[in-house]
Amino acid sequence: MTSIDLDDLFSAEAIGDPYGFFGALRESDPIHWNARHQLWVITRHADIVWMVRHHELFSSAVIRNDQRPPYPPIDPEDKERFEYVREFRSEQVVEQDRPVHATMRGVVHPFFAPTAMEAWRPFIANAVADLLDEIEPRGGMDVLPDLAAPLPVRVIAQLMGVPPEDREYLRELADKLLYINRGESYRMKPLTEGMRAMVEYVTPFVEKRLQEPSNDFISVLAQGEKAGLFDRHQVLVNTALLLFAGHETTMNLIANGTLAFARHPGQWAQLRADPDGLVRTATEECLRYDAPVKSTQRIAASDVDFHGRSIRTGDRIRWIIAAANRDPLAFADPDAFDITRQPNPHVSFGAGIHYCLGSTLARLEGQEIFRALARRVPKLVLDDPEVEYQPSIQFRSLKSLPISWR
Ligand code: HEM
Repeated sequence: MTSIDLDDLFSAEAIGDPYGFFGALRESDPIHWNARHQLWVITRHADIVWMVRHHELFSSAVIRNDQRPPYPPIDPEDKERFEYVREFRSEQVVEQDRPVHATMRGVVHPFFAPTAMEAWRPFIANAVADLLDEIEPRGGMDVLPDLAAPLPVRVIAQLMGVPPEDREYLRELADKLLYINRGESYRMKPLTEGMRAMVEYVTPFVEKRLQEPSNDFISVLAQGEKAGLFDRHQVLVNTALLLFAGHETTMNLIANGTLAFARHPGQWAQLRADPDGLVRTATEECLRYDAPVKSTQRIAASDVDFHGRSIRTGDRIRWIIAAANRDPLAFADPDAFDITRQPNPHVSFGAGIHYCLGSTLARLEGQEIFRALARRVPKLVLDDPEVEYQPSIQFRSLKSLPISWR
């Protein structure tokens, strides 16, 4: 690792092998000042949990409070687009601090509560069965476009309460929204196109649900607007958050988990021998071993001395889930993929007040996919042992994953 620049978060090493790259930082400098991107990089499990739980010291209002230019740089003519993105994102629940965060989260929390979400399991299991009925006879698939991408969109469309025939359009929008936190300099263009189109698409549904509420997510936000807790802009951008937050993340859980099983045939055989008994711990291990979200951010709200390092108000911070989930101080044999691992205190859904609102839903989707695959697909053979990842600092996203089972 000596020749690798540990400050280049978009290098081939950081994107291809975040475990080696950030693992090296975790061992040598766990609270690291990254001079290239001008931010702190935090990699130890205990430090991340402590930091995220001290939300009064580390603000989530990153987009609103960070006036520095985006990193990596964007095309110079895209400054206006960037301002649109800033305005859009700064109203989302994930970007709020208390007390606004508590109010907003209070409105949507009952919808995402574990018991409420369990009721969606049959719908998800049916959606998985439909997809696999079509795919299985082919003897192979590219996991990304064939399975991992369609399922979350299908589920989110249903949750949002939009008609099934709009799924394809939502998927197009989701593809544009995926440019969030990617490295390409032109990323603002597809991103703003996706955001504007999303606002346009959702507005009539909000109008309708204000008059005739139903049991869907848009109705929940519309009722928040009626109660004066959300304004219209907040309703629209938080509906879009569902697509942002629930699409690429779940897609990565499905694809990265399938890759882990393909590379560990013994673990696949074990799951196949007892899918119902093992699918829960197996899904947790997929979440830990190759986390869908590699890292996320905060901005310091106070001066903090952290293990002798001086973090100053306004400093940018990236906390690296991929490093925390492989921290030997938190996990025995952290680089082993072990589907029976218990306890499994991974931080793939974050921690503290911003703990992932969609965690139960994501778990349901993961469990139903891996259960169905284990029942139907005897072996998972990678068509190409080399895989490539999108140049994202936040998401661990495969570009494609062709596999076969014949
Ligand atoms: C495997 C899939 C998923 C992963 C790994 C994941 C990961 C995360 C993480 C790490 C956070 C914390 C962000 C922070 O503290 O800065 C978060 C928050 C959030 N997630 Fe997820 N997520 C997943 C699926 C979903 C789904 C399916 C939805 C909704 C449909 C969703 C909605 C949200 C929302 C709304 C927040 C913000 C919560 C808040 O700020 O209070 N996520 N997620």
